[in-house]
Formats: sequence, structure tokens, C-alpha cells
Amino acid sequence: MTSMKNKLQNLKQEILERLEKAADILQLQELEEKYLGRKGELTLLLKEVGNLPAAERKETGKLANEIRTEIKQKLIEIKKKLDKNIHNDEFFDATLPGTKIASGHLHPLTQVQRDLEKIFSSMGFMILDGPELESDYYNFEALNIPKSHPARDMQDTFYINHKNKQGEYDMVMRTHTSNVQVRAMEKYGAPLRGVALGKIYRNEATDQRHEHTFYQIEGLMVDKDISIAHLMAVLREMFKRLFDQSANIRLRPGFFSFVEPGVEVEMSCLLCKGKGCPVCKRTGWVEMLGAGLVHPNVLRAGGIDSKIYSGFAFGTGIERLAMMKYGIDDIRLFHSGDLYFLKQF
Ligand code: PHE
Repeated sequence: MTSMKNKLQNLKQEILERLEKAADILQLQELEEKYLGRKGELTLLLKEVGNLPAAERKETGKLANEIRTEIKQKLIEIKKKLDKNIHNDEFFDATLPGTKIASGHLHPLTQVQRDLEKIFSSMGFMILDGPELESDYYNFEALNIPKSHPARDMQDTFYINHKNKQGEYDMVMRTHTSNVQVRAMEKYGAPLRGVALGKIYRNEATDQRHEHTFYQIEGLMVDKDISIAHLMAVLREMFKRLFDQSANIRLRPGFFSFVEPGVEVEMSCLLCKGKGCPVCKRTGWVEMLGAGLVHPNVLRAGGIDSKIYSGFAFGTGIERLAMMKYGIDDIRLFHSGDLYFLKQF
């Protein structure tokens, strides 16, 4: 046997052994490159065969081709085997949950707002709308709060740099949703049932319970013989459906220029069930809203005859309702843009 044939046989042996030991596809590819690549050991050896004397070349060439074919077949065979191993080894659990796709959701205040709209629509209330930049007239005057009235101090707000013919500032960022009351009366007349939800503004130092910008819901019902009893029934229903549980209500006298009598409505604390806790300042009761029977001057401003019709009105902060519903103790969280807070809802 010529030395060339020997070399070929030895290399074949070496290659087959090493292919057999390849642990994965990557190793197999490396071996293929090492032996059969452009500068691979077998490739180079095969090139040398071409330089042999003619007598030797024929036989050795034949052997070389056989060896190459055999090795290529072996490669394919082992590749198949390794491929199969991949699938055999991998444990596939079809019951595992898939990768979650992140999706957003409505802000907690929007959720409460929509809940309220549903509750009141089902009781036959219209959903009313009003401007945030409001005239002094609808925000104060029409609500029985004249220019010099001290009630304006309680609702100090941001005046806009715009004056009327008398040189008085006449546009404000609305201080409450009550600005919608007279607007609604003018537009729809009596009888009337509506709620207005939206953003309002106050010149307020912020703390755990106060914000300069927040949301309110206003309720207004005008009809013949409307009394405080109607107000209480509607509020009870609102609390019951919003909080998914019944709550007691009690009234205290309260002053608002646009209602007479005016009341502050307190609800039994849902967090401690009336036993007393930090949220209700250990009284068992939480102040929830302002309300009362619509003042005759306001009905008149809205073009409604106060001798025939009466009505109730109430207003409250939507943040306050949401805080009670979810047990949140800082109003500033709502507008903080803090995703750790928001993602809980
Ligand atoms: N507008 C009042 C406020 O913002 C609440 C209120 C509304 C009181 C309707 C009575 C009637 O404080």
C-alpha cells in the first residue's frame, strides 16, 4: 500500500471516530470545517492525489472518492441523529401559560367616573357637560354668590386675564361642577334630571386630602315636590352600587349659597364599618358631599318657576369616592403618574 493510501485510511479513521463523538450540531459543523472545508485536512489530501504519478493516481483517486462519499454520508447520518436529540431532550409543557402581552387599562378615576355614569343613567339622569374655563356668572353669580360674598373665599380660584366692559375679571377656571346647574336649566327646563362629571380647579395648598385640580360629580334633579327624601334615596342608591355594599347616611346642616336648606352628607365608614379608624378620624362617619334643595334664586336664574318646581343638587369629589372605594389614603397619588400605583387597578 502506498503511503498516500495509508494517510487516507488513517485520516478516514480519525474523522469517523471524531464525528461519532460530536455532542451537538455546532461541534459537528466545526469538524466538517476542519476536515472538509476549503482548507480542510481531507480536502488538502485529496488535492495531493492529483499530483501522484499516473500509475498510482487511478487507484488512489478511486479510494479517495469512496472515502469522501462515506464521510459525507456519515455526516448526514450523525446530523440527523443530533437533530432528533434536540427534540427528544426538550420538555415541552403545553399547559404552561404563554408570555403575557402587556396591555393598559383605564385610570382608576375614569373607572369610577364610568361606574357613576352607569348608575345615574340607569336612574334616568342625563350625562351633562360644561366648560372648565367658565364665566364668573355661571360659576358664581347665577349660583347666588354675588361678587362681594364671602363664600367666594372658600372657592378661590385661578382667574383668567380677561376683563369685561366694567373692567372686572370675568373668566375663571371653574371651582366646581355646579357651573352646569344653571346651564342645564336654561337648556332643558323643568323637569330635569342630570349629572355632570368633570375637572375643576382651586387655589389650594396640596396635602394628603387636597388637590388644586380634581374631579367632581354634580347631581341635579328638578321636578314638582322634590324634597330631601328624594336626595337621600338617590344618594343611598349611588353609594350602594358604587361600593357594592349598603352604607348609612346622615345629614348635618351645611352652608352653600345655591341651596336652601344646605347639608353636608356623611356616610358610615366602610373601612371600619363605623367602629372608628384613622380614615374616619375615629368617628365612624366620613364627610362625603355637599347637597341641598336648589335655592329659589338659582331656579329663577335658570328660568324655572320656583313656585311650581323644586329640586335637589349635590356635588362631591370623584377622588374622594375612589379613595373610599379602594382604601387609598393620599389624593396626590391619582395624578402622580406613578405606574406602581396605577397598575394595581
Ligand atoms: N359645589 C359644592 C362644592 O364644590 C358642592 C355642592 C354641590 C353643594 C351642590 C351643594 C349642592 O363644594
